[in-house]
Amino acid sequence: MATERLATEFGGIGETNGRVPAFDSRAFEVETQAIGRRLYAAAGSHKPRLYQGVSGWLLRGTMEDASLRTALFEFVDALPQLASQRDIAEHLAAYLTSTQAGGWRKFLLRLAANPGLAWLARAAVRRLADQFLVAETPGALDLAATRLACVPALLAVDAVGEAVLSEAEAARYLDRNRAILGWLAQRGQTPHLSLKLTGLTGVFDPLDRRGTRQRVFQRVAPLIVEACRCHAMLTVDMEHYELKPLILDLFLEMLEAWPDPAWQPGIALQAYLPETERDVERLLAAAQRYGRRIGVRLVKGAYWDQEAAWAAQRGWPRPTLTEKAATDAHFERLAGSLLAHADTLHPAIASHNLRSQAVALAQARRLGLPPDRWEAQMLLGMAEPLRDALAAAGAPLRIYVPIGDPVIGMAYLIRRLLENTASTSILRQSYIAGAGLDTLLAAPSLARGQAAPAAVKAPANLPLIDFSRPEEQASFAAALQDIRAALPQRVPLPGAVGIPSVHAIRNPAQPAEILGEAALADTAYADGLVDRAVAAFPQWRSQPVPQRVQLLRRASDQLALRRREFAALEVLSVAKNWREADADVAEAVDFLRYYANEMERCAGWRETVGFPGEQNRMRYEPRGLALIVAPWNFPLAILAGMTAAALAAGNCAIMKPALPGLLLAEEFHRLLLAAGFPGEVCQLLPADADVAAHLVAHPCVQVIAFTGSHQVGLSILQAAHTATAAQTHVKQVICEMGGKNAIIVDRDADLDEAVAGILASAFGYAGQKCSACSRVIAVDEVHDRLLARLADAAAALSWGAPEDGTCAHGPLISEAARDKALAYIEIGRAEGRLVWQGKVPETGWYVPPTLFAGIKPEHRLAREEIFGPVLAAMRAENFAAALALAQDCDYALTGGVYSRFPPHLALAQNSFSVGNLYLNRKITGARVGVQPFGGFNLSGTGVQAGGPDYLKQFMWSRVVSANTIRHGFIP
Ligand code: FDA
Repeated sequence: MATERLATEFGGIGETNGRVPAFDSRAFEVETQAIGRRLYAAAGSHKPRLYQGVSGWLLRGTMEDASLRTALFEFVDALPQLASQRDIAEHLAAYLTSTQAGGWRKFLLRLAANPGLAWLARAAVRRLADQFLVAETPGALDLAATRLACVPALLAVDAVGEAVLSEAEAARYLDRNRAILGWLAQRGQTPHLSLKLTGLTGVFDPLDRRGTRQRVFQRVAPLIVEACRCHAMLTVDMEHYELKPLILDLFLEMLEAWPDPAWQPGIALQAYLPETERDVERLLAAAQRYGRRIGVRLVKGAYWDQEAAWAAQRGWPRPTLTEKAATDAHFERLAGSLLAHADTLHPAIASHNLRSQAVALAQARRLGLPPDRWEAQMLLGMAEPLRDALAAAGAPLRIYVPIGDPVIGMAYLIRRLLENTASTSILRQSYIAGAGLDTLLAAPSLARGQAAPAAVKAPANLPLIDFSRPEEQASFAAALQDIRAALPQRVPLPGAVGIPSVHAIRNPAQPAEILGEAALADTAYADGLVDRAVAAFPQWRSQPVPQRVQLLRRASDQLALRRREFAALEVLSVAKNWREADADVAEAVDFLRYYANEMERCAGWRETVGFPGEQNRMRYEPRGLALIVAPWNFPLAILAGMTAAALAAGNCAIMKPALPGLLLAEEFHRLLLAAGFPGEVCQLLPADADVAAHLVAHPCVQVIAFTGSHQVGLSILQAAHTATAAQTHVKQVICEMGGKNAIIVDRDADLDEAVAGILASAFGYAGQKCSACSRVIAVDEVHDRLLARLADAAAALSWGAPEDGTCAHGPLISEAARDKALAYIEIGRAEGRLVWQGKVPETGWYVPPTLFAGIKPEHRLAREEIFGPVLAAMRAENFAAALALAQDCDYALTGGVYSRFPPHLALAQNSFSVGNLYLNRKITGARVGVQPFGGFNLSGTGVQAGGPDYLKQFMWSRVVSANTIRHGFIP
């Protein structure tokens, strides 16, 4: 409704101002065009400084050649980390090798060939940076302000820097902002500061709303006190979509918490989000409620590409508009409505687009707004001719001035360069492509019949829950409550004569709490299951494939519908946090669907090679009875994956889950039966390891699918391959075992990314994933900095009962697991140097997250799997040495490399020999069908789950070759 209103009249939101003349869209367009033409004439043929001289020449080159553009941006991105002349030259040359030939490339290659000239490259980039960034000194800021005063324009200052990943870094961000506020106040103008709320805490987590609020408020408080003192305006920048609900909520709560009208609050809103109208309505209501003007900086949105990529990767709908013209049109509508409410809000129209600013100016004039009621805003270094023309036309103007170390501010620089050179960018069209005035001023229109932007092929995986949405948080909390109401749960042994033993399933965060009880089977009961399965197999194997896969799909649909219930049970029984529990259930759904699809692909007879007179055909057939021995750390995904593969292939399955996962396994088993799997085809065996070992050796078991420790895996392999007299076949064993996974951090790595990725990989699920990172190998030059940032950032993570939702990190699965990890911490103290250790609750099976340095290849901490939050850091002389250290390991499951040097990444790709290698990202979280998962050496038998080879392990193939020649006649 609001949208319609906004579309028809610019003053649409809330009450319209009675003095405003009726809106005549045609007249308004004529006025916009006239203003646009005058602005254009005033801007003349001047080019912004960026498009002149060396920088202009450089940018033109990048626009003519997309590969050169990528290469140069990669170079600029890595430059801050490059210490030596040789490093700079080598990186430049490496990036250029992937570009096409051309004069440009030759010139730059010649530069790279001579390390003595590397200073030139650094100086050129620095010159570029200087156009967008001001050094963080009172003198430099003073100079910038004085220059802008001549325009005339005011300034809004933004402290740019590294990503804030720790409380120490957040404290530094706060200190910088306080200092800047002080400098601005001394200048005697009303200071205006732009602020990133994510910069005020090491962990800005929409799920940890309370904690995030508390940390942000604690830091913002002194800033607001200061702002009150000097009547400053604090504008909150808008960031990624996932963070928007919390940023907006916190901003509104700040208004309530600090009602003093002496400080002026403001926030940026993005026009590329269709939902921004609703946010404007909220701000309007808040302004009226608190009786104060709220600044709204309207921008188009800086994260368009990233939002598109993330949405595609996660299978979430794209949050942004998908056509540039749609964003432009939306921007115009929003600008109109904000300006129409300039009595309640303080609109700042932020754009470098001639048409967008012409619309704003026309609207402000139509509404008769005085200069103190609104303003136009632009970024430093962009579109100065338009800036000057707007100033000359009397538009109140403010320039957003990023301030900081030009070297560290490279990420900001890259964003600006991308913006200046994107094909849809107004700046590129205006100053490089030479678009005519009519084009620049044309009203944005959605080209009829225009092809939608290339749709990214979304993976078929079930999208994860977006926990940044409050409604999702509420719905998950309700699921947890429902599960709690149904406790304690029971896992029965149907048909058992007497109950041999009962196992209590405890809450790892509160071990005194018993969540349920399971009756455990003995070997006689297990033998009974085998007999039933063997009897059922002939009929089950003859079921047509479409019927089998239909059951799997039905089960997957039901599991998807009940995902919250299952995930909530995981949170309680195996202490996964909300996101990880949901991911495990989603992965289970993916496995059911993936193997159903795979089975369809593998079904039926197919011709191998056709000769005249000879028919050669093959097909896959089920082996018989599969024993599924599943772990507790992915209690649903791995159990469902192995079972689904067995059943899809036409085998009967006996599921033997690890004891802590029994409640989930029981529920999952019931779901499979409800979906239509016959009871004797898919059976649950709640039992301990001895009973499992009994079945491994059982002569009627054909396939054993196991995921767990390498000790148990090896014993299964040995037992399975020791044939007994009663056995008439060779058993097939598919083993997924442990890892001692390493992440290498190269000297040029992006440490913002590396620190976040290492912590997620090492401490996610308290280090209890077989893919977890337990060794970090840092190249000498970055070793100390990396460790310092890791320790600081790790200290910001919260440990506590996962049921709480705000705690991303919980306890270990059992007392034994805790004791084992604690023993390794003692070993680490003896072998290495304790760098950092976190604090954890006293009740529950918690282990303090711990970081050791000085670990040598021969140390136990470098060689043995711990399965807890213990991270061992090793120092390597160079990348080759780091690679050798990483490979000096009995396991080969996952590995990671953070580097920006293409030859090193290529080397790792070729020779970092692990099942799953991850470059410049975390090393956990493989997705079914996207990253088939599994390792070799002591990590497994080398078959990857969720990949094209897996299902075939549960079948054998048969070939029939028929001679079709009959007395010389070939039918
Ligand atoms: P132009 O008219 O060229 O528009 C480019 C924009 O169009 C892109 O940035 C994108 O939003 C949009 N777009 C491009 N292709 C598209 C497509 N296919 N479909 C839909 N939309 C598409 N940003 C932010 O996110 N948070 C913030 O807090 C700020 N703060 C800020 C302050 C100030 C003073 C300014 C001037 C800008 C910002 N920005 C920002 C950046 C802003 O969002 C935007 O990226 C730039 O201003 C570029 O937009 P223009 O209107 O200048 O150019």
